Amino acid sequence: MDQSMSELMNHTSDMGQAQMFSKAWYNEYFRRAAESPTHARFCEAVYGRDLCQHGMMDMDELDFLISLLKPGEKILEVGCSNGHITEYIHQRAACNILGVDYSDVAIAQARQRTREKTPALDFRCVDLIQDELPGAHYDVILAIDCIYFMGDYGATVAKLNAKLAPGGRMIIAAFQAKEEDDPDAILLPDHTRMSEVLRGLSFRYAQHDFTPNIRNHWIKNYEFSRSLQPRFGAEGNEFLCEARMAENGWFKDHAERETLVRFMYVIDQNPNLPPSGSQGGQ
Ligand SMILES: C[S@@+](CC[C@H](N)C(=O)[O-])C[C@H]1O[C@@H](n2cnc3c(N)ncnc32)[C@H](O)[C@@H]1O
Repeated sequence: MDQSMSELMNHTSDMGQAQMFSKAWYNEYFRRAAESPTHARFCEAVYGRDLCQHGMMDMDELDFLISLLKPGEKILEVGCSNGHITEYIHQRAACNILGVDYSDVAIAQARQRTREKTPALDFRCVDLIQDELPGAHYDVILAIDCIYFMGDYGATVAKLNAKLAPGGRMIIAAFQAKEEDDPDAILLPDHTRMSEVLRGLSFRYAQHDFTPNIRNHWIKNYEFSRSLQPRFGAEGNEFLCEARMAENGWFKDHAERETLVRFMYVIDQNPNLPPSGSQGGQ
């Protein structure tokens, strides 16, 4: 797990039996979220539209991402959750997309909801750490707020790079927080952990700054989790509200102290990189 996420875990409260962000925890999250009118309302208020999000990408950023895609491209989306974002991208960009996630509950929801759109839109249960990634020769691989869960950034981008077609690209959306021991420079575009890893592996990439979006996101996330708390409770979905509150205090604090940045990295396939190994740190 990425260092910032480990820091976050140290600040989160006990979420019951399942460890936060584990497969069991995400299964419980998506089992409830898919049926919860209050979760839909929360997502609409916080992200600008309800796509059952659990990341940090608002609709401005998502629509920008879609503008980078070309019709007919073959796409792999890792960490796709229950596929509402994937389905939205598929509709808007007319791409062929395979979404993968380790939450079997989320993948079952996605498959059931979109079964008439296969094979152009498909979903598969894959553990991004333990399993091989399915397929090959992707034009684009998308990773929206899931890179933190895949372990070492260098090994992860090498693994994704190996699945790209020549001339393909990865689009990775990720935050960077500055913790006490981090240098101030870590918040600069060229010095985030991801930037350092990409340069260390000689990737060519462009970086798009969504820092104002993410700071605004966490302030809204914090406020709406609290204002909607009674509604979550009335539905018996305290779990969903507590799940949000467990992380949004930590992030809001970083947003207010301006120690949180976010970038979308658009990374060209690197034909000279071996597919695996620990070429770069995080
Ligand atoms: C923060 S959520 C982001 C979900 C979605 N991309 C979004 O932006 O709303 C992280 C996602 O990664 C998935 N995930 C975490 N660890 C994983 C792993 N080891 N293998 C596959 N998926 C994983 C979770 O199930 C969850 O759907």
